[in-house]
Amino acid sequence: MSDSREHIMVTGGAGFIGVNFVRRVLATRPTVSVVVLDALTYAGNGTSLEQLPADRLHFVHGDIRDQRLVDRLLREHEIRTLVHFAAESHVDRSIDGPDAFVATNIDGTHSLLKAAREYWLSGSGTPHRFHHVSTDEVYGSLGSEDPPFTERNQYQPNSPYSASKAGSDHLVRAYHHTFGLEVTTTNCSNNYGPYQFPEKLIPLMIVNILEGKPLPIYGDGMQVRDWLHVEDHCRAIEACLDRGVAGELYNIGGANERPNLEIVGKLCEMIDERVGASSDLASRFPDCPASKGSSSQSLVTYVTDRPGHDRRYAIDFSKAAADLEYQPQETFDSGFSGTVDWYLENEPWWRGVMDGSYRQWLDSNYASR
Ligand code: NAD
Ligand code: TYD
Repeated sequence: MSDSREHIMVTGGAGFIGVNFVRRVLATRPTVSVVVLDALTYAGNGTSLEQLPADRLHFVHGDIRDQRLVDRLLREHEIRTLVHFAAESHVDRSIDGPDAFVATNIDGTHSLLKAAREYWLSGSGTPHRFHHVSTDEVYGSLGSEDPPFTERNQYQPNSPYSASKAGSDHLVRAYHHTFGLEVTTTNCSNNYGPYQFPEKLIPLMIVNILEGKPLPIYGDGMQVRDWLHVEDHCRAIEACLDRGVAGELYNIGGANERPNLEIVGKLCEMIDERVGASSDLASRFPDCPASKGSSSQSLVTYVTDRPGHDRRYAIDFSKAAADLEYQPQETFDSGFSGTVDWYLENEPWWRGVMDGSYRQWLDSNYASR
């Protein structure tokens, strides 16, 4: 992000990773101002952007598929850098209803690309960058002995979510090769950290432990993910904006491969320790097993596996290490500990995003497995 690209547009900036990215950029880059474009689906939350400097943050409630709106925003704010997070992002929802995934992830990305091409490439051209945030899930699933994914792995998406992300990656690539749009793409592993909606594994398990609800483990719980702290991911994206080469893909991982059961066990242990040692926490969360002197592990409940469940993802980020000088800074202990503390300290946030209908849906979805 050079001075010539001071106004950046962030799509999906009210979602989990987008919020963390916007907060980080506003905190670390005083000359940058941000235009957030977000449709505020169930996963987007305006309160996550509260208390940020209003003179450097412009929030627009709108859809990335609205090409005229995107075109107007690019021109009005003289955007030179667009960071594209907006997506439908949850695999389970893509199994229940794939249409929204094709609409937002494929059509929506294409609409942004068309607007960017029109604005940046017509006439004599303007220096610009279109950064696309994607996932390691486009590479498919690994066996336990397979080497981690590199940027040369074949795309083999298995879920409607990963297939729609793969489709968007291909469109981004094509707009570079065919039209010369200056794009970069990062394919990252599973993120965790503050402001994550409690439908993904880690925040769901934290709030269910605190509320004494079952902890649904799909299948045998031995599926492996490479857990990446969201701050590390956001630093990697910044590094890619600064040093990434147009047309390139970069894999971003956390060097933190763990089976789901280990993740859930660690969260139980951390919450039991904290609640066991604090009468304040025990009275705030009376249904948490640790408030009654038992272990949260008692909540672990094996449920029917997710259809087509990918067994293992792992990332080789040596290209990002060499070319972007990227290295994750959070460890398993530091990252998980900070995340558990954040959810304990921000109960109004997660209660606010989990309105009654979502909790009902969760409970009935769990019951129907
Ligand atoms: P999220 O679901 O928390 O947030 C998505 C945001 O996009 C929400 O604010 C939502 O309102 C917005 N949005 C959805 N449809 C929109 C539309 N049509 N127009 C405008 N805004 C729309 O997602 P996240 O976890 O923050 O993920 C961000 C990006 O990172 C996604 O592209 C996702 O595929 C990718 N990614 C996420 C992870 C992860 O672990 N969370 C891992 C790899 C890649
Ligand atoms: P998730 O957070 O949905 O991310 P992804 O499917 O994109 O990897 O799930 C992470 C892992 O946790 C995945 O193997 C599915 C598993 N999982 C459960 O066992 N129980 C749950 O309730 C959830 C949400 C996920």
